[in-house]
Amino acid sequence: MKRRARKFYWIASVAVVAAGVVIAAMVRYSTSEETQPVSVTPGKSDDLRAVYASALEVAEGKHVAEASCARCHGLDGVSKTKGIPHIAGQRPAYLHLELRAYQTGVRGEKAMDGAVKYLSDDALVQVAAYYASLDPPQPIPASAVKSGPAKPDPVQAGKDAAAGCAGCHGEGGVSKIPGMPSLVGLHPKYLVAAMKAYKSGDRKHDLMKTFLMPKSDSELENIALYYALQKPERAKTPPISGKPESGEAAAAACAGCHGNQGVSGNPVTPSLAGQDAQYLVTAIKAYKDGSRKDETMTGPVAALDDNTINDLAAFYAAQTPKPPNVRMPLTTAEWAQKCDRCHGINGNSTDPLTPALAGQRVDYLEKVLHDYRTRARKSPPMAAMSDVLDEADIENLAAHYARQKARAVVFVIPLGK
Ligand code: HEC
Ligand code: HEC
Ligand code: HEC
Ligand code: HEC
Repeated sequence: MKRRARKFYWIASVAVVAAGVVIAAMVRYSTSEETQPVSVTPGKSDDLRAVYASALEVAEGKHVAEASCARCHGLDGVSKTKGIPHIAGQRPAYLHLELRAYQTGVRGEKAMDGAVKYLSDDALVQVAAYYASLDPPQPIPASAVKSGPAKPDPVQAGKDAAAGCAGCHGEGGVSKIPGMPSLVGLHPKYLVAAMKAYKSGDRKHDLMKTFLMPKSDSELENIALYYALQKPERAKTPPISGKPESGEAAAAACAGCHGNQGVSGNPVTPSLAGQDAQYLVTAIKAYKDGSRKDETMTGPVAALDDNTINDLAAFYAAQTPKPPNVRMPLTTAEWAQKCDRCHGINGNSTDPLTPALAGQRVDYLEKVLHDYRTRARKSPPMAAMSDVLDEADIENLAAHYARQKARAVVFVIPLGK
């Protein structure tokens, strides 16, 4: 107990000296308003060793860098080569952690494996502290960054692409014509699958095929998103002769998939609530006579007579449609706000274990975001984040962070506790 306390005191005093030296180094390399002091409390493990590195260790780190790293990363840690990240001014404990990850093979990369394979952990700490102490790279001017496809608003794009559909499917996808399906209240996954089925001929309807053939996959996705985000309303079509009360009883056989009131909880099973009644009749009969082929629907409709079909359709048409569970896609600025919660304001992390993103190379940022998505690089928080990003989000976020001004951070270890 006593020995540990003494050892801690020793570490703390060395660390304070070190921090002073690091501050001095920072001031030498950059103007003072570009650096911000952040206090860190010594942690449980040795994860923070690179934060406590002494001036001597930083100097040793420079020798390691000269011998093993400079040919790729430069002695200044500012990369001029595609695929090689900037490491100057990166957070010290993060650098150490990644070097260990390359060494143990957790993060696989041929170029890096060889460079760190035979280095001791002390050498890794030193070289991490050295690169962390350097001035970070300048951000690329906005004009030099190929800024993604300047993501058009997908909902507006969907609305534009669906301009020719309203004549049959109604404004906002609420049908006014008996026999025409409403498109509102349906999950985008179902809508996309349905439209692709018309295009491929799996679902036979010459008219729909003609309308959808010229549309690209991304247009179909935008169209589906547009309809899914419209306010659901019952089709504005006249009722049919069926009896909703009898339909409700018969619908017990359908509720397991289509939901109790015709609102489905499964993205690939369509909701039926508020759908045009005449269309429902046509669709059920099409499954029954096999002109619309679907294995899941063949069984449930096989024994239905015309009266029951009318009753079911009348019941579902009278139910209240609900919006499917989809959210408005986030803009790049909204995404960046989420990223900044861990990576710091404009990607300037103040946590020595979390990497700064500001001023990093665009190509490298894009590459690692893909690596997280394919799990080639492992990190639970980043796996979760990268899964929900689409290609345009990745391009736009990489461009966004490459343009941010990188700020060096000085980690100050408080005296005492
Ligand atoms: C042969 C070229 C080469 C050499 C030598 C090399 N690196 Fe790298 N380094 C790379 C490449 C390429 C990457 C990107 C790998 C990836 O995408 O995972 C990288 C990635 C890194 C990263 C990860 C950066 C981040 O933001 O996650 C660190 C840290 C790093 N190198 C430090 C070093 C150090 C320290 C040395 C010397 C001990 C060194 N490298 C030697 C090519 C090299
Ligand atoms: C001339 C009228 C007409 C136009 C215009 C039209 N549709 Fe259709 N659409 C129909 C009919 C009729 C059906 C039902 C076909 C069937 O029974 O499979 C249908 C079915 C659909 C379905 C399947 C609905 C479901 O519940 O399974 C989707 C999705 C769809 N259309 C999308 C579109 C889109 C998107 C456009 C515009 C690009 C469009 N339609 C233009 C008449 C039209
Ligand atoms: C085992 C699950 C399951 C059961 C039970 C089931 N359905 Fe379906 N239903 C589906 C799936 C999946 C689809 C989408 C099939 C396709 O893409 O054509 C569907 C499609 C439909 C459609 C077409 C909707 C549209 O927008 O085009 C209607 C109408 C329908 N079902 C009515 C019924 C009725 C009525 C019953 C009960 C008698 C029933 N279903 C029972 C799974 C089920
Ligand atoms: C919950 C905290 C958290 C959030 C939110 C988060 N990150 Fe990360 N991120 C991390 C951690 C921790 C790492 C280091 C993981 C590792 O060791 O591979 C990381 C690593 C990264 C890297 C690799 C940096 C390098 O130098 O190699 C990139 C790029 C990145 N994140 C981008 C993002 C983007 C873009 C977002 C927002 C869409 C985001 N992150 C959201 C915690 C987070």
